[in-house]
Amino acid sequence: MKPIVMAGPWITELEIKTVEDAMRNGWYENSYGYVEKFQVEFAKYHNRKFAVMTPNCTTAIHLLLTALGIKEGDEVIVPECTWIASAAPITYLKATPVFCDIDPVHWCLDPSSVEKNISPKTKAIIVVDLYGNMPDMNAIVSISEKYNIPLIEDAAEALGSTYYNVKAGKFGVGSVFSFHRTKTLTTGEGGMLLLDDENLYKRCMILRDHGRDGALPLHMRDPKQKEYFSNEVTYKYMPFNVQAAMGYAQFQRVGELIAKKHWIYEEYKKRLNEVDDILLNPEPDFVFNGVWITALVFGKSYNLTKQIAIQKLSKLNLPSRPFFYPLSSLPAYPGLEEKNRKNNPVAYDISSRGINLSCAMNLTIDQVDAICDGIKKILK
Ligand SMILES: Cc1ncc(COP(=O)(O)O)c(C=O)c1O
Repeated sequence: MKPIVMAGPWITELEIKTVEDAMRNGWYENSYGYVEKFQVEFAKYHNRKFAVMTPNCTTAIHLLLTALGIKEGDEVIVPECTWIASAAPITYLKATPVFCDIDPVHWCLDPSSVEKNISPKTKAIIVVDLYGNMPDMNAIVSISEKYNIPLIEDAAEALGSTYYNVKAGKFGVGSVFSFHRTKTLTTGEGGMLLLDDENLYKRCMILRDHGRDGALPLHMRDPKQKEYFSNEVTYKYMPFNVQAAMGYAQFQRVGELIAKKHWIYEEYKKRLNEVDDILLNPEPDFVFNGVWITALVFGKSYNLTKQIAIQKLSKLNLPSRPFFYPLSSLPAYPGLEEKNRKNNPVAYDISSRGINLSCAMNLTIDQVDAICDGIKKILK
């Protein structure tokens, strides 16, 4: 059996040929050809009006928060357990991330914790579809509407997930996706921002390119805008056509990519069904879970921390990774742990007992067998 790796993509001749085409022909008048095709199709698939491709998902969040006017002194709600990229752009803008507790079943934002943490300074809520799991989106959307606070859906990990038949990426004023090399659909590094509001779209497009509107469709551009004449200092978060060509080709296979992820999850589930007192990503009736990564939370009866579990599995040559740490426990966000441990007990508890299993697109049945046998062995 080949060594098991944690993550990696599924690349076919289609991606190779499409990237080759971009290398050969994607210049001059075609310099953004694949970017535009990918944006249009990705928006349509998610029933959104606009898509803005970015160098990665972190920059997509940064763009949207900036377009929403988030600034120093503002607070933005974000779940405790997510990749730091969900929160870092809040900090870039000198605003304050307010880390809220998660739900013990789906591990995403707990609506009651969100409501408790809303203050007059709260200017946005970022909900994260953790590992492909869907939050209680109806409740989160209601809170956003009740308090008139814009909602951002961080769907970086949730390509293919649905909630009552609505695709992840359709919630809130805008949503973001990651095409990092470990993700279901990859461009190596890459991201996408989806929007429905034309003004917000225009603002994001201008912010993406040094305060210029040149990447907007012609009818949305200012006819008086002079070449090289920036109106303000903004970011440079333009995508690269070759990167978009890879994304476009992967996107032609989106159904197959999502099906593979779901297959991996089902294979883990079949083998681990017989193990008592563990949790895997949930998939209630009203959800299809894209399961970017299968996560496993050990029940308290095992008295097993994620660090010990990871070490034990590693001794069996089985890789695994820690469930995301509560962000308030990281040195990156000092001084918060004591208070947040009390306020967000579920996040601290679940995270301490959770691990991520391999989600590599080349995972074989033998390897799934070996991983599940290993888990059963360390639980004996
Ligand atoms: C939940 C979440 N948000 C944001 C990101 C950031 O994505 P990127 O690495 O493309 O910037 C990731 C990536 O891993 C993620 O998992």
